[in-house]
Amino acid sequence: MPKGSILVVDDEAEIREGLEALLTSESFDVTLAETGAAGLQRLEDRPFDLMLLDVSLPDRNGLDMLREIRLRDPHLSIILITAYGSIDMARAAFKSGAQDYITKPWSNDELIAQISLAIEGRRLREENVQLKRALKQRYNFPNIAGKSEKMLAVLDLVAQVAPSRSTVLISGESGTGKELIAKAIHAASSRADKAFIPINTGSIPVDLLESQLFGHLKGAFTSAIASKKGLFEVADQGTIFFDEISTISPETQAKLLRVIQEREFMRLGGTETIKVDVRILAASNEDLRQLVREGRFREDLFHRLNVISIHLPPLRERKEDIPLLIGRFLGQFCRENGKPLRVFTQGAMKVAMDYDWPGNVRELENAVERAVVLSNDPTMDADLLPESVRTSEIAKGVRLELSEFLPPAPGESGHRAAEPAPTLFEILEEVERRILIEMLERTKGNQTEAAELLQIPLSTLNQKIKRLGVETRRRSGAGRVAPSTGGESTEILPGK
Ligand SMILES: Nc1ncnc2c1ncn2[C@@H]1O[C@H](COP(=O)(O)OP(=O)(O)OP(=O)(O)O)[C@@H](O)[C@H]1O
Ligand SMILES: [Mg+2]
Repeated sequence: MPKGSILVVDDEAEIREGLEALLTSESFDVTLAETGAAGLQRLEDRPFDLMLLDVSLPDRNGLDMLREIRLRDPHLSIILITAYGSIDMARAAFKSGAQDYITKPWSNDELIAQISLAIEGRRLREENVQLKRALKQRYNFPNIAGKSEKMLAVLDLVAQVAPSRSTVLISGESGTGKELIAKAIHAASSRADKAFIPINTGSIPVDLLESQLFGHLKGAFTSAIASKKGLFEVADQGTIFFDEISTISPETQAKLLRVIQEREFMRLGGTETIKVDVRILAASNEDLRQLVREGRFREDLFHRLNVISIHLPPLRERKEDIPLLIGRFLGQFCRENGKPLRVFTQGAMKVAMDYDWPGNVRELENAVERAVVLSNDPTMDADLLPESVRTSEIAKGVRLELSEFLPPAPGESGHRAAEPAPTLFEILEEVERRILIEMLERTKGNQTEAAELLQIPLSTLNQKIKRLGVETRRRSGAGRVAPSTGGESTEILPGK
């Protein structure tokens, strides 16, 4: 099967034929066109994955042609062929929607790499569009990326509860998208054109929070020099989103309960009851049920809030969403930073997939933004990911050959046949010892860092080092770690 279909538009026969030979030998399906007009005609005839376009065609200006093609097929990947590389040219090309450009004469390897990348980029963009379309058909949540079963179940629930005015409690670890979901509920409700007011209760002192929520009359407290409307009044007919609801004080909990039950409240220092129609959404990354058990959160308020609960699973439980989120964030941050679209290499994608993302989508979003800002090439390798993401990969990268540790199979004669076979306990100790040696090697003997990589307390690491007889001699310069049995090799540790 061809790796992709490529249309080559160039007026020089030598270049056309050279490219045809090269691309065909790399299993691409190649079509040639001599003029801009012929190129456009080929595009009408059939779809292509990629176009190699000479910018200086006799019958057309390459950049004008680019724009024309973009109108017909916004997703076609285009690589421009220029006679000379100039920054202005490149800038103009990116602006008119080219993915990349090459300068004559080029290196074939580089060209093939660029082409493969651009075709992959197109596939991702199309997949993204299709997914968006599929989601849109089900619901319209343009800001939420997700195709995992767990995320689709969340969206099902959002679509179901949005039209009602029920209170919804959104739970999930930090950075899983709780506020995003709250906004989606508001946007999909009949209140969409009214206010959505998020309030982070954790960051506001009690008195101030109450005055913000309920408003106050002049003189209600020392600094109340004028009367002020509270957010409940401002949000009338709209939605209020309580972020970190677990942090509100017992007094405020009682007042909030009253608003939810009676749909009325009083301003601080006031006597008049004010009626409002506000939908309440709340989020917490703490287990409210547990707080209720501990007597730190009112049970009645919990039940009022928890009429409907939506739990956002952590990113590590829906890893199939990672590439989609990365694609989304790459598009966003490349646009914001005025850079042409970048893609992750397979290596970088693998590191991202292997990592557990304790900070969830927010951590991933920040990592992609950082990578885009730091990147100079259209492909972004794992070295652009934050160290914390990469080092956890290092810790996983210890490869052990199991067969080395296993006793020979019955009948198999080996040099170890004469020795007694090791017990499972001995095998596990050996594995542990090797991992410690490897980690100390990688951290150049820094035990604190090694303990961090292995996610064990430093004291535990020290005990293990002693018990397993791993010597942590720091050599000057190389800083290598040698096993206690001595010798130059740090790879293989002789059995005790
Ligand atoms: N499914 C998603 N698709 C696209 N962007 C997402 C998704 N989930 C989260 N994000 C983005 O990740 C960031 C964190 O999301 P959000 O603020 O909603 O998380 P949170 O659960 O409220 O976090 P915290 O508990 O720290 O307040 C935001 O920039 C949000 O837009
Ligand atoms: Mg939040």
